[in-house]
Amino acid sequence: MHIFKDVKSYSKWRESIDTSVGFVPTMGCLHAGHSFLVQNSVKENENTVVSIFVNPTQFGPNEDFEKYPRTIDDDIRLLEETGCSAVFLPYNKMMYDNPKVFVDVDELDEMLCGEKRPGHFKGVLTVVAKLFNIIRPTRAYFGEKDYQQFVIINKMVKDLFFELEMRMIPIVREKDGLALSSRNRYLCEEHRKHAVILSEIIRFAQENCFEGMKITEAYKMIRNKFLENIPDFMKVDYVDIRNGNDFRFEDNITRDSRIFLAIYCGETRLIDNGKIL
Ligand code: PAF
Repeated sequence: MHIFKDVKSYSKWRESIDTSVGFVPTMGCLHAGHSFLVQNSVKENENTVVSIFVNPTQFGPNEDFEKYPRTIDDDIRLLEETGCSAVFLPYNKMMYDNPKVFVDVDELDEMLCGEKRPGHFKGVLTVVAKLFNIIRPTRAYFGEKDYQQFVIINKMVKDLFFELEMRMIPIVREKDGLALSSRNRYLCEEHRKHAVILSEIIRFAQENCFEGMKITEAYKMIRNKFLENIPDFMKVDYVDIRNGNDFRFEDNITRDSRIFLAIYCGETRLIDNGKIL
């Protein structure tokens, strides 16, 4: 497996390849969810490139950029076992050398994580655009857990004519339903036990909502069953049912409805989502 730390050496390798390249952008602290992205890429492409870069511009001033887990040796060991061809490990100064140009999105970032984390998607789009230009992938792989991120990047690919195929890969979950996330490692035993509420709410919505049902009714059911008695260390950032294509509010459940959740478990903000019908 090649390890590249600068654009020049990566480009030299990339130019020597005329077969397909699958790309999995990550911020490291890799887990089975990332391995699943890599496996999907390995299946569909001759070469798979993974980038590991904790992107400072997508973290707000009071978020966990400094403390975000960095486990590079373990990450490289795991990637060696997955059939990944190359790892790209850029450094801050290379990605952001007195930057003046950023990529941003209208409307799609005005709700859910975009509303709660101002500037987050501008940071994501900017780094992903840079990485797409450096890596020059045939296909790019993103997890469904960050569904809003996928929709926004997909729109960037269309609007800016990036020549690549976007792939959204299903969420990998723990046995009890908790979606895998690098941030799960922040959870103490007690918080971990209760973190399962996110996937329980999704399952409950899937089992109890029906086409045409008033969304206010769905919220009432979810509030009564789950949110009225959550422990003090949990704080709901949002539980929202929206149209999954453009995140607009609707009055009734439709075939496009998705439930989106962000809940703090202590200091740790967990997100999850799922199609309802
Ligand atoms: O999903 C992530 O891990 C990040 O947002 C990404 C896409 C690697 C950009 O930094």
